[in-house]
Amino acid sequence: MNDDRLRDLLEKMTLEEKVGQMVQISGEFLEKGSVLTGPMLEKGFTNEAICLAGSVIGIQNAATMRRIQKNYMERHPHEIPALFMMDVINGYRTVFPIPLAQGCAFEPDLSEKCSSAAAREAASSGIHVTFAPMADLVRDARWGRVMESPGEDPYLNSLYCRAMVRGFQGEDIKYSGKIAACVKHFAAYGAPVAGRDYNTVELSEHTLREFYIPAYDSGIKAGAEMVMAAFNTVNRIPSTGNKWLLKDLLRKELGFDGVLISDWAAIEELIAHGYCNGRKEAAEKAFGAGIDIDMMSGIYSEHLSDLVRSETIHEKEIDKAVYRILRLKNRLGLFEHPYKDAGEEEEKKYFLCQKHRKIALEAAEKSCVLLKNEGEFPLKIGRKTAFIGPYVNTNKLTGSWSFTGDKKEIVSIKEILSEYPEYTENITCMQGSPMIEFDMELKGFDEEEKEKISGDEIEKMLDDAEEVAKEAQSVVMFLGEHFLQSGEAASRAYITIPSVQKRLFDRVYNVNKNISVVLFSGRPLDIMDISRKANAILLAWLPGTEGARAIMNILTGTAAPEGKLSMSFPWSVGQIPIFYNSDSTGRPYDNHIQQDRFRSRYLDIPNEPLYPFGYGLTYTSFSISEVVLDRTRISRGEKICASVLVKNTGGRTGIETIQMYIRDLVASVVRPVKELKAFKKITILPGEEKTVCFDIGEQELSFYKSDGRYGCEEGKFRVYIGTDSRTDNFKEFILE
Ligand code: GLC
Repeated sequence: MNDDRLRDLLEKMTLEEKVGQMVQISGEFLEKGSVLTGPMLEKGFTNEAICLAGSVIGIQNAATMRRIQKNYMERHPHEIPALFMMDVINGYRTVFPIPLAQGCAFEPDLSEKCSSAAAREAASSGIHVTFAPMADLVRDARWGRVMESPGEDPYLNSLYCRAMVRGFQGEDIKYSGKIAACVKHFAAYGAPVAGRDYNTVELSEHTLREFYIPAYDSGIKAGAEMVMAAFNTVNRIPSTGNKWLLKDLLRKELGFDGVLISDWAAIEELIAHGYCNGRKEAAEKAFGAGIDIDMMSGIYSEHLSDLVRSETIHEKEIDKAVYRILRLKNRLGLFEHPYKDAGEEEEKKYFLCQKHRKIALEAAEKSCVLLKNEGEFPLKIGRKTAFIGPYVNTNKLTGSWSFTGDKKEIVSIKEILSEYPEYTENITCMQGSPMIEFDMELKGFDEEEKEKISGDEIEKMLDDAEEVAKEAQSVVMFLGEHFLQSGEAASRAYITIPSVQKRLFDRVYNVNKNISVVLFSGRPLDIMDISRKANAILLAWLPGTEGARAIMNILTGTAAPEGKLSMSFPWSVGQIPIFYNSDSTGRPYDNHIQQDRFRSRYLDIPNEPLYPFGYGLTYTSFSISEVVLDRTRISRGEKICASVLVKNTGGRTGIETIQMYIRDLVASVVRPVKELKAFKKITILPGEEKTVCFDIGEQELSFYKSDGRYGCEEGKFRVYIGTDSRTDNFKEFILE
């Protein structure tokens, strides 16, 4: 429909019909069985509100969507189609690695393919909008939702956020297989104090702008149709009611003019925050801050019309919000094609198709990170090996947002072994322990059956594992967090593997020192003891549908690991938040040199992470030359070229991610000791050498200066080039 007709439609609508478009309800109100991704508290929805609600969340199949859409439009006074939305975070029926793992591939283009495949499958189930990408920068592994983010670096996150928006939306969301993206959670939801979900966020505006805003901005500039406001406060005002954040920063400064949606019941939570006296004031403040759609609080449907009639808010402002919503429906082509791509035939055609499985396998292989390897990997054919651990025989290899994936369609490590006949005759599989202690209460978005195993049964499992380990030449242990120990409302104070698994590890280690570990997790874990004792550690995160095949391809050497950490692994939870792009402080501590004791440090652990951002090994080795600069002084508008010579010093073709970091040594605000500004993945044959060059100009040197303006300042800079953020390979230059 053309814009004039859209505005005519708006003109014809009553106030209640307009407000209806600003209300999102769970599919549960329309059809049992939709997925509930938030608290289903008592809501003030009237029947009329349900009939007029402009969008639906949580419907996850084409037949149901088509039935709901048909009934909805027949009942609607203007036959306006409903918007169907859901969290399609890392895949739909084909599940990809969690975004934190995808970030380790350092290949945004690959994640664009993952998002495009996810859009194709979700669209065939009738979804029009996904609540993704989650662009929250993360630094605190206690927070369960780090699994949803591409990681701790603003530059890398920005590339991923842009790529995912492009993958979901393509050139035009009207096209078949494309859905609208929603960048979330605006803003800085990833920085809750103490890593406790939904907790207060305390950031300076400089830190907010320098580290947290870039990825949201990148998604908006990529054309994201929607933004979701965060649950948390910014500058002591809840984001959902924060005019400065949503109108001044998001709308005016970043130029976002799409649809702004609240998070689940977040408008109602303005009351619990102590920011509003009651539901009516919450409606007024959320609307005043610019929230267009109220997700599942019921407050807009209850109070917005009255606020217009009492002239507290102007109907013209309502019209602007409703116009944005109708425009999104029009951009999706829903007025002409209200079912868009929804169809059971389409579901059969695209779900888990070979093309999507191939992408899932590549993403899972490239997101695995080899943290340690003293020669154990790849596995030796003919070597008597025991595969022990609860991750040997489970198909739960997906993240907590993957409820649309059917775990029955995911094969376990044990099941995939049959594809590696040259290895299987010498590999014995043993679960060894339950995944987690029985008393640990874990809830997900879909029902999770609990393994009820008695203490005696556990002892028996441990004894049997010990026997198998004794007979083996080497042991590979498949251990890790339960997949529901990360995700929303899953913060943890101790970020270790479940204690019953640690008992298994210790029992096996006592009888066989030749242990390697494949680690599954939705967050960086405290693996200090495992790291000391295991000869090799392959981090698999939660790798998705093709996870088992990816892991076996890496363990057998069919594929080589190439992942680089997107988030630091701490020595200890006591060190958190730990991240590479930190400040020097006035008393920097370098544990490689002798210094006085008055330093910014801990008495009991080093000042650095156990495994740093950007770190990861592969099956060959590389040497890197000193940094070479083509000049040592530049003026504004000029560029400097920094290069290194990289040589494959091992016996196997390898892929390395060469990373370029900048340090601004003196500036009008303190600057991080390093900032990632570029990276290049290169493939090098054994013995081959390649030169890798990076151009550095004002863009790479700019930041929010003390006067709040963005730009660079004259002075001395360092350019580091290495294979992880710990590199000390640098040269200095001057910006005049
Ligand atoms: C949840 C999450 C948000 C999600 C929304 C809808 O509470 O915070 O990320 O998109 O509800 O499921």
